[in-house]
Amino acid sequence: MILFKTAETLQKELEKLRSKNLKIGFVPTMGALHAGHLSLIDECKKHCDVVICSIFVNPTQFNDKNDFEKYPVTIQNDIYLLETNKTDILFWPSINEVYKDGIEDLQHFDLGYLETILEGKYRPGHFQGVCNVMYRLLNIVQPDYLFLGRKDYQQYLVLKKMMQQYFSNINITAVDIKREENGLAMSSRNMRLSEEAKNKAASIYQSLQLIKQNISEENFDILKVKASQTLLQNGFDKIDYVEICDAETLLSVNKLNGKKPIALIAAFIEGVRLIDNILLTKIHLL
Ligand code: PAJ
Repeated sequence: MILFKTAETLQKELEKLRSKNLKIGFVPTMGALHAGHLSLIDECKKHCDVVICSIFVNPTQFNDKNDFEKYPVTIQNDIYLLETNKTDILFWPSINEVYKDGIEDLQHFDLGYLETILEGKYRPGHFQGVCNVMYRLLNIVQPDYLFLGRKDYQQYLVLKKMMQQYFSNINITAVDIKREENGLAMSSRNMRLSEEAKNKAASIYQSLQLIKQNISEENFDILKVKASQTLLQNGFDKIDYVEICDAETLLSVNKLNGKKPIALIAAFIEGVRLIDNILLTKIHLL
């Protein structure tokens, strides 16, 4: 694996690879890598000749300063995992390299209602930060393929919208959620949980399963209440939302009505905010 810290040196290497007609795949991350990230790398390898991973803890997408400061940094282990998983290139830039003009004057992206619902509602400015960093990273890397996880389902839809406008030539692939044996979705933030909380946090997946297994035409509200109760009974201290939405628009739905629904949860345990989701139909969407 070759490690690049500057856009200029990375771009020189990419030019060489492109001249050989190699297909370039990109997996952007914030590091503290786990098997979920590695499943994106594996998927990327299946479709592309060259796998580039970036590690950059993007300050502009953290609406909570505390969350940014506590975000786990495990670069030595990350490099080891990427090497072992045969990643070709790691881009590990500094803040100044990505935000050459500082982080005050950010570009504004038109994301419509997508940035005012669910994650957008509870993390104001978050998706503008995500789009700002992805706009910069995609301009530097200019990949043929981008790989994103369904774990951050709304982020995936937001980036699809941003990319339709600015990067319509890049293919986006969404990769399934990788879970621990107990069902807990893998997340860098899990590292901040005690062993006890990691066990209890699996109730987020149980709540989603409860919705999936019991969904019928008109019981959405009851299921949302039951799912919330399951979370609170299992040690979650605060719930931002338990929602059932149309998987294509993320607008809230109350009836099946031929829609393809998805259940989404955001909740806090031991002060750590976790998110998860599950598609409620057996069909693979989007
Ligand atoms: P990060 O949280 O590090 O996630 C990087 C990618 O890994 C995202 O596409 C995310 O959806 C995916 N991912 C995380 N956990 C996963 C899991 N359990 N299963 C499958 N995929 C998983 O998302 C970000 O970073 C940032 O917002 C970023 C896009 C890099 C922009 O800063």
